[in-house]
Amino acid sequence: MNVTQIVLHDFRNILEETVSFTPGVNILYGKNAQGKTNVLEGIYCFALGKSFRGNRDRELIRFGCGQSRLELSFRDINREQKMELSLFEEKSREMKRNGVPIRKRSEFVGTFHAVLFCPEHLSMIQGPPGQRRQFLDSAICQLKPSYLAALSLYGNVLKQRNALLRDEDRTEEERLPLLEVLTQQMAEYNTRIVITRSRYLRLLEQAVSSFLSEMTSDRERLSLTYCSDAQIELEDHPEQMKDSYFRKCMSYAKREMAAGISLHGCHRDDIGILLNGKEAKLFGSQGQDRSIALAMKLGEGEISRAAMGEYPVFLFDDVLSELDRDRQRYLLQKLEERQVILTSCNRELFEGMHAPMIRVEEGTYEREEQG
Ligand SMILES: Nc1ncnc2c1ncn2[C@@H]1O[C@H](COP(=O)(O)OP(=O)(O)OP(=O)(O)O)[C@@H](O)[C@H]1O
Ligand SMILES: [Mg+2]
Repeated sequence: MNVTQIVLHDFRNILEETVSFTPGVNILYGKNAQGKTNVLEGIYCFALGKSFRGNRDRELIRFGCGQSRLELSFRDINREQKMELSLFEEKSREMKRNGVPIRKRSEFVGTFHAVLFCPEHLSMIQGPPGQRRQFLDSAICQLKPSYLAALSLYGNVLKQRNALLRDEDRTEEERLPLLEVLTQQMAEYNTRIVITRSRYLRLLEQAVSSFLSEMTSDRERLSLTYCSDAQIELEDHPEQMKDSYFRKCMSYAKREMAAGISLHGCHRDDIGILLNGKEAKLFGSQGQDRSIALAMKLGEGEISRAAMGEYPVFLFDDVLSELDRDRQRYLLQKLEERQVILTSCNRELFEGMHAPMIRVEEGTYEREEQG
């Protein structure tokens, strides 16, 4: 898959720009706060259906403007495609694929595929569980839009359930029947999400292990497990898994009412990462953690290719300078023959490389003539 161009109107610090890309490596370089990440953010909006910086739509609109528009042209195995995303200050967003309006985010994702790698991901191993769940969610929702729908339904029920747990105007006995209804619904979506994540993780483990053994000349063994309150071993029996989760949740109902919050479910799950049998979070060195994070991103690309029949677009935000020379070299060599759009403050890093260089300055993008 290749992005051919993105048009950005009043997006972040960009007035109106068209940025074109070639297959292979493309480099956006410039000083800090000029708009390098903004372009990757714009492109990745089409993969995720929202910003990866977790902001509300309106924060993406250029200061003082009422609306913002993005238009992405890309080529996949079969054809050229065009997607559009318009964000408004005063009303909800509009989405289109090849001119056809789309209502839901879960229908918008799944057409354009990208892997994003940014400096925060380098600390994914040590970071909080939410960061690892986000990794899974961003990767899976592109392959399985129904997963995004399940996540959103789960999020809605969770919100209602938490409100009920906190509702002190009603006695515990009064709240229990409604709590059962909400927990049933939550169990349904939780089961779908947990099974999907756990299956994805098994594919990822294979891919990541093989990258890691290449990177470290086979010195390190990796295992990835899905850590959850749900009984993962019942994966092939979703109805049983759902029932057991429901019963478990209800057995904690009193404690949850006292705490005023849902304590169990996929919003609290995590990925367990073992390196040579030891928990990487506790025992990994910074270098090992970076290698795992890098291998996880490359692995995400492999799974996407296996599912979609072609590599996604790789978006690398300022990560190259964070890696040592061996890992830089390894990464660039692995990404040959794929489209990579990367940003850097450091033009010298790419001296001698045959790749288009795009100079970024105050929200403008100028392609250098190649000598
Ligand atoms: N909604 C907005 N409207 C206008 N400008 C914005 C908006 N949001 C962010 N900006 C501006 O965008 C700029 C940051 O852009 P970006 O994050 O792309 O920088 P960058 O080139 O990646 O920098 P760095 O090298 O530090 O990562 C800042 O100048 C910021 O003030
Ligand atoms: Mg940046």
